[in-house]
Amino acid sequence: MQNISFLREEFIQYLNAKVSVKEPANLYEPMVYILDQGGKRLRPVLVLMAAEIFDCPYQKALDAALAIEIFHNFSLVHDDIMDDAPLRRGKETVHEKWDVNTGILSGDAMLINAYQLFENYEGEVFRELAKLFSKTAIEVCEGQQYDIDFETRDNVTISDYLKMIEYKTAVLVGASLQMGAIVAKASSSCKKAIYEYGRLLGIAFQLQDDYLDAFGDPDTFGKQVGGDIIENKKTFLYLKTLEAANENEARQLEHLYTISPADNSGKIEAVKNLFESSGAAEITRREIERYTRKAFLILDKIDLPEAKKEPLRKFGEMLMERQV
Ligand code: IPE
Ligand code: IPE
Ligand code: MG
Ligand code: MG
Ligand code: MG
Repeated sequence: MQNISFLREEFIQYLNAKVSVKEPANLYEPMVYILDQGGKRLRPVLVLMAAEIFDCPYQKALDAALAIEIFHNFSLVHDDIMDDAPLRRGKETVHEKWDVNTGILSGDAMLINAYQLFENYEGEVFRELAKLFSKTAIEVCEGQQYDIDFETRDNVTISDYLKMIEYKTAVLVGASLQMGAIVAKASSSCKKAIYEYGRLLGIAFQLQDDYLDAFGDPDTFGKQVGGDIIENKKTFLYLKTLEAANENEARQLEHLYTISPADNSGKIEAVKNLFESSGAAEITRREIERYTRKAFLILDKIDLPEAKKEPLRKFGEMLMERQV
C-alpha cells in the first residue's frame, strides 16, 4: 500500500500531464486555473487508496480519480456562482476573474470531460463506474438545490440538513472510494461497505466545512470566512443554535438571517457569538467526531486485514484535524 502523500503526488503528476489549455482559450483557461490551484485532492486520493486496498495497482485507477477531481472542481465553479463566493483556495473565483457565463460553460465542459475519462475502462468496470457516477452526480445536483432552497425556507430541520449534506457532499466521498473498489473488482459487499465508510466520513467533512466557514482562520482558510452567514445558509451551527439558545437569542439569530447590511462584518460577528454562546459550536465539534467514529465502526466490519484499513483510519483522523 502506497502512502497518502505519494498517491497525492502521483495524482498531481497525472493531472498535469492530462489537463492543458486548448482553443478556445476562454473555455479551457478557467479549467486549468481551477484545477491547478491545488486544493486538498482528497477525493482522487481516496479513489487510489481504495484500489490499492483491494489489491489493484493505483495506476489503473488514475482515470477514475481524475474524473472525480474534475467533477469536484466543476461543482465548485458552479457552487461559487450559486453562493456568490469571491474567493476559492486563496484566489479569485472563476466567475469573478472571468464572468458568470464563462463559469457556467467551463463548468459544463469539465463535467463532460469527467464522463469521457470513464471511456478508458472496459466492459463491466466501465458500466459500473458510469452508473455510479451518474447516480452520484444527480444526487449532488439535488443536494445543491436543497442547499439553495433552504436559504429562504424557515422550517428546515436537522434531518433536512443532514439529507442535504449527504447529497451535496457525502455521496461523492462514498463514490470516490467505491470507484477504486470497482476498478479493483472487489466483492459487492466490500464495495458497499467502503461506500458507506465514505458517506459517513463525508457527512463529518461537510459539518466541518460549515464549522470552518464560520470559525476558520481568514489568513489560511482560502475562502471568505463567514460566507455561509452572509448567504443565510441553514447550517448545523444555525439549526443547533435555534434549538439550544434561549428564546431571546433564537429570535435574534432569526432576525440576523433576514438582514443584508452593506458591511457584513457586524452580522458575522453577532451570529458567531450566538453560535458559541448557545453551545452549538461545541455540539458541532462533537458531531464531527461522532460521524467520524461511526465511519470507523463500518471500517471495523470490512473483511480486510487490519494493516490495509489503517491508512483509511489515518485519513479520517487527518480530516478531523484539518483547518482548510
Ligand atoms: C469543498 O471541498 C467543497 C465541499 C464539499 C465542502 P474541499 O474542501 O475538498 O475542496 P478542495 O478541493 O480541497 O479545495
Ligand atoms: C459545496 O458546499 C458542495 C458542492 C460543491 C457540491 P459548500 O458551498 O459549503 O462548499 P464551499 O464551502 O463553497 O467549498
Ligand atoms: Mg460554496
Ligand atoms: Mg454551496
Ligand atoms: Mg462551505
